[in-house]
Amino acid sequence: MKVIVANHSGFCFGVEKAIHTAFDEVNNNSNIKRDIYTLGPLIHNQQAVNKLENDGIKVIGHLNEVSDGTVIIRSHGVSKNIYDIAYEKKINLVDATCPFVRKIQNIVKEYKEKGYNIVIIGNPDHPEVVGINGWCNNEAYVVKTEDDIEKIPFLDKMCIVVQTTMSTSLYLKLTDILEKKAIDVVKFNTICSATRDRQESARDLAKEVDVMIVVGGYHSSNTQKLVEICKEEKPNTTFHIETASELPINLLGGYETVGVTAGASTPKWIIDEVIEKINSL
Ligand code: F3S
Repeated sequence: MKVIVANHSGFCFGVEKAIHTAFDEVNNNSNIKRDIYTLGPLIHNQQAVNKLENDGIKVIGHLNEVSDGTVIIRSHGVSKNIYDIAYEKKINLVDATCPFVRKIQNIVKEYKEKGYNIVIIGNPDHPEVVGINGWCNNEAYVVKTEDDIEKIPFLDKMCIVVQTTMSTSLYLKLTDILEKKAIDVVKFNTICSATRDRQESARDLAKEVDVMIVVGGYHSSNTQKLVEICKEEKPNTTFHIETASELPINLLGGYETVGVTAGASTPKWIIDEVIEKINSL
């Protein structure tokens, strides 16, 4: 059985930066002994989060849970009010917001101030989207499907942005409809290049192989998108797993080529374990 790994897969630079930031804090902290927290899991990968916890980094859900120490903002970013609360409480914030997400936050802030209605194409419950909405007074229309667009009234001015990990095809489909719902429309394709690269190389590889294995957290948005894309090419032989132990070994027999891709929050050691296990079959 031949294993081919997608040209672009695994950690993106935003996640790498967040992980390095967290470990730098642990190292710098050895003398100060300040508690270190992340506001929400640093990345959408339970195995990596467990590792960070072993190094003493705790996950909190809200700033109310701490009165001092250091709080790391993860790559998804947060709403403006989190910075305000941290400032009031004199909490030391370490900001690992991905620059691609920061760019979207700046766009929605700027265009909200210019009087535009903000539309975010994305998952309303995803922390990145919740955070972006917090830079335009939580007044954005968040749309994930064509049905969501029907609820938006005809507008004067509309500014469209998109969650960094959405698929380009969804962005194009929804902007096409949205553009008919306002007089003045500005749109920004804010899907990040890491996402685009991973999606394109996953599709190319899925066309080439018999079976696709997508490795990544079940809650990871970008991993779920990779699964959807691979399923478009290989509806019956795409498998989403979190770790090597979940490989559907009994279903792989008889196939010659297996493609492996991984979400932007999947550590290399997990991908390596998966490849090793397939190679050993
Ligand atoms: Fe940033 Fe894109 Fe990764 S937004 S965190 S580079 S998936």
